[in-house]
Amino acid sequence: MKDASANQEQKRAVAVRAAALVVGGQTVGLGTGSTAAFFIEDLGRRVREERLSLKCVVTSFSSSVLARDHGLSVFPLDDFDALDISVDGADEIDSSMCLIKGGGAAHTREKLVHAMSKRFVVIADASKRVSKLGEKFPVPVECIPPAVRFVERKLRELGGKPSVRFAKGGKDGPIVTDNGNLIIDVLLDMNSPEKMEREINSIPGVLDNGIFAITKPSEAFIAE
Ligand code: 5RP
Repeated sequence: MKDASANQEQKRAVAVRAAALVVGGQTVGLGTGSTAAFFIEDLGRRVREERLSLKCVVTSFSSSVLARDHGLSVFPLDDFDALDISVDGADEIDSSMCLIKGGGAAHTREKLVHAMSKRFVVIADASKRVSKLGEKFPVPVECIPPAVRFVERKLRELGGKPSVRFAKGGKDGPIVTDNGNLIIDVLLDMNSPEKMEREINSIPGVLDNGIFAITKPSEAFIAE
């Protein structure tokens, strides 16, 4: 599982670089996680100091709270047909800029927001770089609760090692996503991320998975 407290300075540095890309009048998609949090914080600073006018959409409840705390204006996603730019972290990034996301269980809304963005910028500390996707991090699969056992079985048939994600404190039982669903983390040996993204999403009961090979970033800022 991810360590949100790791590599804070690298995360802040790439987040500040990404925040500098945003210009007044834009619609901005806000990611989820500790790296995206630095982006939200710095964008809030720019809005205050430069009096930028921005319309933001969020990828999770936690990003919504954080964005409002930093003075950003948050709008419903369906107010927009497209977004100018979105910025988010990642759990893994390979040399083709394919990602694994969903360490914060927010990948379904993240994929939607980033697919709507003309520019999707991923920001990451150096630990996120991998030579092969799935090397360090399992693929999160969001599924509706009654489908869990069926989806686990299908993921095993794909050669994966699935396990339902459980809360680590503050709640007994599994993690429930912002969409009211469960997360299955599956360790996979992946030769074609795009094919695997499609195959997992074709399992009935699956909402979306955390492979971003079809919806890919247009740019990546990765700390050295
Ligand atoms: C949340 C995500 C995050 O972007 C990903 O887990 C990276 O998080 P962090 O920036 O805390 O390392 O996909 O669903």
